[in-house]
Amino acid sequence: MRVIPTGETLGATIEGLDLARPFSDDEFEGVVRALGERGVVRFPGQTLTGRQLADFSARFGELEINVANTHQEPGIPEVMILSNIVEDGKAIGLADAGQDWHTDMSYSSTIAFANVLYGIKIPRRAGQSLGATEFSNMHAAYDGLPAEMKRDLEGMTVLHDFNKFWEMMRREKGSKRPPLSDAQKKAKPPVSHPVFLTHPITGRRVLYANPGYAVRINELPQKESAQTLAFLFQHQLKAEYRYAFHWEERDVLMWEDIGTIHNAVADYGPHEHRLIKRCQVMATRFQPEEE
Ligand SMILES: [Fe+2]
Repeated sequence: MRVIPTGETLGATIEGLDLARPFSDDEFEGVVRALGERGVVRFPGQTLTGRQLADFSARFGELEINVANTHQEPGIPEVMILSNIVEDGKAIGLADAGQDWHTDMSYSSTIAFANVLYGIKIPRRAGQSLGATEFSNMHAAYDGLPAEMKRDLEGMTVLHDFNKFWEMMRREKGSKRPPLSDAQKKAKPPVSHPVFLTHPITGRRVLYANPGYAVRINELPQKESAQTLAFLFQHQLKAEYRYAFHWEERDVLMWEDIGTIHNAVADYGPHEHRLIKRCQVMATRFQPEEE
C-alpha cells in the first residue's frame, strides 16, 4: 500500500489496496493515518459490490441508515444511491445531494466520521470529468483564525439545523423537494456541538461549523452570533484551504467529516449521467474528545 499526497492542502491517492478483500490491521491503521493527515483519500480502480462497499465502510464505525430515504441499494439500506439517472420515469437515486458547502450529519447528536463514495458512472464533457467534489480543510481554517477569536469562542457551542440546508435547496437551487413536515422537523430537532473539536485522529483542534447547517452560536446575542458565523463561513472557504477532487470511474473516495467541509459541484446536465454509491460512517468508533 502506497500513499501519494496530492501536494495540495488535502487529498492523497492510496494505491495497492483492493477494497473488495478484507485487509490487515496494519493496512487499516495506514488508511486511518492517511485520512488524518490528508482528510480526503482516493482508492483508484476498484470493483465493488454494494455489500463490499458497506463491509469496507463498516470497519470505520457504525453505518447510518437513512430511514426516510428511498434511494437505497436493494437489501442493503446502508448503501445509498446518488444519481440523476431516470429509468422508466423513476429516479434511481437522489439527484441533488449536497450541492452547497456543508458537513454531513452535523445536525445529528452522533455526528459523521467519514463518507465512502464509489464512482460508477461519472459524466464527462470535452474530456473533462464533471461533478467534482470540493473540500475545505478545517484543521487549517482553525489554525488560521485570529488568536483572539480562538480564545473568545473556546468553549462555545453552535446550533446545527437540518432544515437550514433543506430550505436553502428549495429557495436558491430550484429543488422540488417539499418543505419538511412538522413530524419530520420533530424527528430532526436542531442540536449543538462545540465550535472547536479535537480531531479523533490528529488530536488537533478543528473548526466545526459549516454554512449548510450552522444557525446560531448559542452563547452569543443574536446579532453577534450572526456576525461571527458570517465571518467563519467566509474564513473557512479561503482559497488556500480548498481542494477539488475530480472523479474517475471506479474511484472510491473516502473523506473524514470532522476536519473537512465539502460541496458537490452541480456542473452537469440531466442527460450527463452520474451514478455513485455512498456509505455514511458515524463517529461511533472515532469520536471527537468533547462528545
Ligand atoms: Fe455531503
